[in-house]
Amino acid sequence: MKIIMLGAPGAGKGTQAKMIAEKYQIPHVSTGDIFRANIKNGTELGMEAKKYMDQGLLVPDELTVKILLDRVAQADCENGYVLDGFPRTIPQAEVLDEALTKIGEKIDFAINVDVPDENIVRRMSGRRACLKCGATYHIEHIPPKTEGVCDTCGSELVLRDDDKPETVLNRLTVYHNQTQPLIDFYTAKGVLRSVDGTVDMKDVFTAITEILG
Ligand code: AP5
Ligand code: MG
Ligand code: ZN
Repeated sequence: MKIIMLGAPGAGKGTQAKMIAEKYQIPHVSTGDIFRANIKNGTELGMEAKKYMDQGLLVPDELTVKILLDRVAQADCENGYVLDGFPRTIPQAEVLDEALTKIGEKIDFAINVDVPDENIVRRMSGRRACLKCGATYHIEHIPPKTEGVCDTCGSELVLRDDDKPETVLNRLTVYHNQTQPLIDFYTAKGVLRSVDGTVDMKDVFTAITEILG
C-alpha cells in the first residue's frame, strides 16, 4: 500500500504516519526527518536544506525529489510506504507520478489531515522532537515520561528551529500557496480522502484506518 499524508505544518501528518507505518508494517518516509538527520550530521545536503527550512521555505525540488526517489527505491519500500511531507509541490507530485507509472504502480491513498490555521501555531509551540529517532511529543497532549527526554531512545528533546511562531506563519503561507493545490491534484486522481485532524489523535487514527481498511 502506498500512502501520501497531506496537511498543513503541524496537522499531525508525522504522528499519524508513524501509527500507520506500525499497523500496516510499511516504512514511514518523511523528507523533513531526512533533512533534519542531515542537518544534525552536518552533511552538505543538511547545510543547504537548513537555509530554507529555518525561514519556513521549501527546499528546492531538485534536492528533494532525488532524495525521495532514492529512498523509495530501497528494498524495504517494496511492499509500500507512507510518505509524510512529500510531495509538497505540483512538480514533486508529477515526478513521483511518472516514476510510479514507469514501474506500473500508483498511489493508493492521499490522506488529507484537515486542521484550521488557528489551531496550528498553538500546537507547534508545544511540540518537542527527538532529532535522533524522530519521535514527536507535545508538552500538553503527548508528554514524554520524563520531561525533555525521549521515551524511545533516551535522547534530549528539542523545540525544532522552525517551530518559532513567526516561522510557523511563513510555513502556513507556503503551505497554502504551494502544497494545498495537491488536494485538487489527488482528488482528480480519485485517491484523496480527508479526515478531521482537530480531534484526539487516536480518533484521527481510527478515521484513517476505516479508510485504509
Ligand atoms: P516537515 O518536517 O515535513 O514539517 P511540516 O510539514 O511543516 O510538518 P510538521 O512536521 O511540522 O507537522 P506534522 O504534520 O508532521 O505534525 P506532527 O505530527 O508533528 O518539513 C519541515 C521543512 O522541511 C519544511 O518547512 C521544508 O523546508 C522542508 N521540507 C520537507 N519536505 C519537503 C519537500 N517535500 N519539499 C520541499 N521542502 C521540504 O504534530 C504537530 C504537533 O501536534 C505535535 O506536537 C503533536 O504531538 C501534536 N498533535 C498531533 N496530532 C494531534 C491531535 N490530534 N491533537 C492534538 N495534538 C496533536
Ligand atoms: Mg512532521
Ligand atoms: Zn528518540
